Amino acid sequence: MSQPLCIAIAGLGTVGAGTLRVLQQHGDLLAARAGRPLAVTAVSAKSRTKDRGVSIDDVAWFDDPVAMAREAEADVVIELIGGEDGPAKATCEAALAAGRHVVTANKALLAVNGAGLADAAAQAGKALNFEAAVAGGIPIVKALREGLAGNNITRVYGILNGTCNYILTEMREQRRSFEDVLDEAQRLGYAEAEPSMDVDGIDAGQKLALLSSLAFGSRINFDGVYIEGIRHISLLDIDYAEELGYRIKLLGSAQRTERGLEQRVYPRMVDQRQPIAHVEGAENAVVAIGDFVGNTMFQGAGAGAGPTASAVVADIVDIARDHRTPTLGISAGELESLPEAPIGSHRGPYYVRLMVSDRPGVIADVTAVFRDEAVSIESMIQRARSETEAVPVVLNMHECEEAAMQRALSRIATLDSVVEAPTMIRIESLA
Ligand SMILES: NC(=O)c1ccc[n+]([C@@H]2O[C@H](COP(=O)([O-])OP(=O)(O)OC[C@H]3O[C@@H](n4cnc5c(N)ncnc54)[C@H](OP(=O)(O)O)[C@@H]3O)[C@@H](O)[C@H]2O)c1
Repeated sequence: MSQPLCIAIAGLGTVGAGTLRVLQQHGDLLAARAGRPLAVTAVSAKSRTKDRGVSIDDVAWFDDPVAMAREAEADVVIELIGGEDGPAKATCEAALAAGRHVVTANKALLAVNGAGLADAAAQAGKALNFEAAVAGGIPIVKALREGLAGNNITRVYGILNGTCNYILTEMREQRRSFEDVLDEAQRLGYAEAEPSMDVDGIDAGQKLALLSSLAFGSRINFDGVYIEGIRHISLLDIDYAEELGYRIKLLGSAQRTERGLEQRVYPRMVDQRQPIAHVEGAENAVVAIGDFVGNTMFQGAGAGAGPTASAVVADIVDIARDHRTPTLGISAGELESLPEAPIGSHRGPYYVRLMVSDRPGVIADVTAVFRDEAVSIESMIQRARSETEAVPVVLNMHECEEAAMQRALSRIATLDSVVEAPTMIRIESLA
C-alpha cells in the first residue's frame, strides 16, 4: 500500500466541514483516484466543541492554525479560515516555510497577497492550489491553467458572484426591489449581514484578478480591477432592459488590449440571446475565449459546502498524484506586470436612464449636452406623462468613449429638470 497523503485542515466552517465530509464519504474512490489514501491527521478551528456534523475524534486538534501548519504530521495544509491576511495568511506562510503544500479557497487572501504567496510556494518547491477560490465548484482554474494551455486567451468573463446574480434574478422574476431581495437573502443566510463584499462587486473583483492572472500570465493586480456593484440597479432598469432585448448581469471581464490589461466588474446589459444571459439564480458561469479553441463556457454552483469542497478535494488529489503546475500557470518569476487600461478609455454603447420633470425643453437640453460631447443617441423611450411626478427618459446611446459619456452625464446631472442622478449601464457586446 502506498503512503497516505497526510492532510491538516485549518477552518471547519462551511467549506472546511464540507471538505471533511467529502474526504470521509469518498475515502475509497479518492484513494483510487489519488493512487494512495488521503488521511486527515489534524484540524484547527476556533471552537473545539462545536457540532459540525462530521467526526473529528481521531485527528489531532490545534487551537492555533499556524502552530498546526508548522508542527502537525501533514504533507498538505488546507486553509479554509478566510480573510485577506491575519491567521489565513500566517497559516499559508507557515505551511510553505515548513515545506508543506497548501490548498486554499480564499480569494481575498490571494487577490491581495497571492503574488507573494506564489513566490513563496515556488521557492519552497511546493504547490499552492486554489481551485475553490474562483467560481466555487466550477473547475475554471484547472481549465485555464491546463485544459486551455494551447491557446492565447483573448478574453475571459463571467458571473462570478452568486449573491448578485440571485438578487438580479429575483428582482426580474418576482418584480421586487433590490432592498427587498437583499433583505430576504440576508434573513435566509444567502447573503452576509454586511453585504458589501458581494453587492459592491469586491468579491467578484477578487476572483477576476485571479482569473486574469491565469489567463494572461500577469501578476495578480487586484488594485487594477475597476469595480462597480449593483446597488444602483432598479426594477425600472430591469424592465427597460427586457423591453430592449437585454438582461442585466453583474459580469467580471478581463482582456489584454493595446491600452493595457482591462479588468472590469460592473453590471451590464447583455443580449438575451447570449447563453450567459440565461444563467440565473445563485449560479456562476465563466466564458474563456481562446484563439484556437474559440468560446468555452463553464457553468455551475459558485458557492456552498458541497461544490466548494469538491474543488478543494480536486486540488488535494493533484498533490497526492504529484501532479504539479505553477500556481498561476507559468513560473512566478515569468509573470508580467501589465499596465492597467483606464476605464475612461472604454468604448461601447450605453443605456442611460434619466428621471426628469415633464416640461417643454427638457429633451432639447439633454440632447444639447450629448451633442457637445459628440455622443450620439440611437433611440429614446419616453412614455409616461405626469404633471407632478418625474418621468423616466431612456436613451440608447451609440458606441462612444467612456470619458465623453462621463463628462456628458456629469453635466446632465446638474440640469434643473433632471431630478435624480442619471443611471448609466454599459451595453456589452459578447460576440
Ligand atoms: N462558503 C462558501 O460557499 C465559499 C465558496 C468559495 C470560497 N469560500 C472561501 O472559503 C473560505 C472559508 O469560508 P467558509 O464559508 O467555510 O467560512 P466559515 O464558515 O466562516 O468558516 C471559517 C472557519 O474558520 C475558523 N476560524 C476562524 N478564525 C480562526 C482562527 N483564528 N483560528 C482557527 N480557526 C479559525 C472558524 O472556526 P469556528 O467554526 O470554530 O468558528 C470556522 O471553522 C473563505 O476564504 C471563503 O472565501 C467559501
